[in-house]
Amino acid sequence: MSSKAASSGHNSVSADGTTQRPRRKLKGTPPPPTLIERTNALPLDDLKSRFLDTSLLTFTSAGDNASQSSYSIELYTSASLPDEIFDHCFDLLEANMSASYKSTSIGWYPRKKKEEMKHPAMRYLILTAAAPEATSKEATEGTFIGFLEFMITEEEGSEVIYTYELDIIPSHQKLGLGKRLLDVAEEFGKRVGVEKAMLTVFDSNKGARRFYEREGYDLDEISPEPKVLRNGLVKPPTFHILSKPFERVD
Ligand SMILES: CC(C)(COP(=O)(O)OP(=O)(O)OC[C@H]1O[C@@H](n2cnc3c(N)ncnc32)[C@H](O)[C@@H]1OP(=O)(O)O)[C@@H](O)C(=O)NCCC(=O)NCCS
Repeated sequence: MSSKAASSGHNSVSADGTTQRPRRKLKGTPPPPTLIERTNALPLDDLKSRFLDTSLLTFTSAGDNASQSSYSIELYTSASLPDEIFDHCFDLLEANMSASYKSTSIGWYPRKKKEEMKHPAMRYLILTAAAPEATSKEATEGTFIGFLEFMITEEEGSEVIYTYELDIIPSHQKLGLGKRLLDVAEEFGKRVGVEKAMLTVFDSNKGARRFYEREGYDLDEISPEPKVLRNGLVKPPTFHILSKPFERVD
């Protein structure tokens, strides 16, 4: 996964999640806030009560040793995310993805990445496990297993939920946990009323690409085209932009 800002790159995202374009000035009343501005201005409690499908947030799943673990998913804003959990997210992202970032023109720049992760409109779904053998401290706080980082934002004139990062710790991959985080984010986007879910995947990350395709994502119209070299060879872009349209629920 790479960030929207780093990949599609041309528009900077303002604090409310809208891209900064000059707005036509009208005399008199200012334009009403957009769906994106209204959504990103809501306090965390409202985001939770209005846009989270609570039936998806706690569940059990079989682990490697076939014992059942209970998991839970919690929503945070970048401002409410505790430093310790932020560090878990960053460390996991670095372990899973920094080599892929480095191998593309996007590169891996920890300071820039952390700034993006702290953007005021960034939201986090944090997945934790309460293993049966957990100590009482772990049992109350949960063991960090993975996260999905997203923003309700605008992309090329479309209102979207953009997944910036999705990472599960290696020992818990392929247990359906990534799918669950994606389901929660998609339901959030549907309830907000955006048009589609979007994300970026590196060309080298074939497993993740298959995973997203299975979840209904397809190449978006703004995804970079392959380059045809002078010798006729076709060079794929280093990343693809995928999307999944939502049916409107008005
Ligand atoms: C990609 C990732 C988020 C998927 O999460 P996950 O919890 O492992 O995936 P799930 O178990 O929910 O997968 C659902 C399906 O995709 C398949 N799948 C997941 N990752 C796969 C991979 N790397 N290769 C092949 N298939 C994969 C699963 O087998 C499963 O198939 P099924 O529906 O037929 O059972 C996770 O593997 C991960 O964190 N990878 C490293 C970081 C990364 O690449 N992030 C995505 C960046 S774009």
